[in-house]
Amino acid sequence: MSSFRDDGAAALEWAASYLERVRELPVLSRVEPGAIRAALPERAPETAEPFSAVLRDLDDVLLPGLTHWQSPRYFAYFATTASEPGILAELLVAALNQVGILWRASPALQELEEVTLEWLADLLGLPAGMHGHIEDTASTGLVTALAAARAASPGKRVVVCSEHTHSSTAKAARLLELELRPVPGDRHHAMRADEVDLRDACALVATIGTTSSTAIDPVPQLAELCAEAGVWLHVDAAYAGSAAVCPELRHLFAGWERADSIGVNPHKWLFTPMDCSAFWSRRPDDLRAAFSLVPEYLRVSEDVVSLSEYGVPLGRRFRALKLWAVLRCYGREGLQAVIREHLGLAALFEQWVRDAPGWEVVAPRPFSLVCFRREGTDEENEALLERVNASGEAFLSHTRLDGRLVLRLAIGNARTTEDDVRHAWELLRREAGSG
Ligand SMILES: Cc1ncc(COP(=O)(O)O)c(C=O)c1O
Repeated sequence: MSSFRDDGAAALEWAASYLERVRELPVLSRVEPGAIRAALPERAPETAEPFSAVLRDLDDVLLPGLTHWQSPRYFAYFATTASEPGILAELLVAALNQVGILWRASPALQELEEVTLEWLADLLGLPAGMHGHIEDTASTGLVTALAAARAASPGKRVVVCSEHTHSSTAKAARLLELELRPVPGDRHHAMRADEVDLRDACALVATIGTTSSTAIDPVPQLAELCAEAGVWLHVDAAYAGSAAVCPELRHLFAGWERADSIGVNPHKWLFTPMDCSAFWSRRPDDLRAAFSLVPEYLRVSEDVVSLSEYGVPLGRRFRALKLWAVLRCYGREGLQAVIREHLGLAALFEQWVRDAPGWEVVAPRPFSLVCFRREGTDEENEALLERVNASGEAFLSHTRLDGRLVLRLAIGNARTTEDDVRHAWELLRREAGSG
């Protein structure tokens, strides 16, 4: 049996050198479907192998099949960062292997989770007193919110959202056998409040920072409508919510303090390794009414409500440790500095696109995502994107807005520099010229 310390040092060395060289690796994996499977043995080994064999195969077999989300030249979907404190805390989470099925199973897990979400709410300018817990993903958070909303409004089975709402709302509604009522977006892709019909609705999902274009639904008006109709308002700020750490951006979040529940993903734009999705609610009793189910073997004498009573999972990971480590090791100022840097880089890229003949910015840019296209057909834009991504020098993604194919450049990696963004722009122009 090899030594945990030696193997640990080798794994950490691997991780550190990976982060140093990741910029040079092809961002989008180039393997064909099935190639990684074909390179792996059909069965697990009969006898023990050293950990060094795992590290060797990570290099030789798996690395070609990785799309490098940690690359500073990753600009697709929403770019993310697993920061160094988050990575180290994740190691400790595994070492501690806490299973937070109820408070007494790990008092520190539960209380750190509660405190960390209070800290984060404060950093984001949310009102004190909201009940917070951590979900794996925003998708699970949607299930949590809609299940509580459904239970709180018996007989009401409609979920109102915008046509641009993330598909996780539709998935949660489908799972909960709720009917989706999409509302059209305005010319900036924000939900049209004048088109909202809350008849028979138990919930309305508003988004601050939609997935396609980071549009912002008119939350103050929607909150008013929901309050009048007694409808649960969930604000999905999975990507953009982290930007509220900057006071100068808070106006973009107007009204979210009135939400019944809010989701923000620190694993998107707050430098926390996947997975970590913050969920706050002003109505914890309704969450509990929907989810609390304590079997005899989990009954305890302490007067404490376990976090497992507020959502689907029983056992929870010690995710709070990594978020806590990130908040401590960056501090408010550190978080603000990176978010501001990303906004600045996005503004720069947007300006380059605006200034270049034959290119067009196609949506407002409130955060760090630029939606743009090259003149020409959808097919030409798609082919351009394919060429850019095939180069391995950057990875961008696309969406469809107003019926047209649109390219998206999302800045969210803490190691992305102006040089990286310029490199992506030069690559786009080079490939546009060669099409
Ligand atoms: C606005 C929005 N909501 C929800 C989600 C789903 O996030 P998750 O992968 O955490 O379920 C996304 C993913 O990009 C998103 O952009």
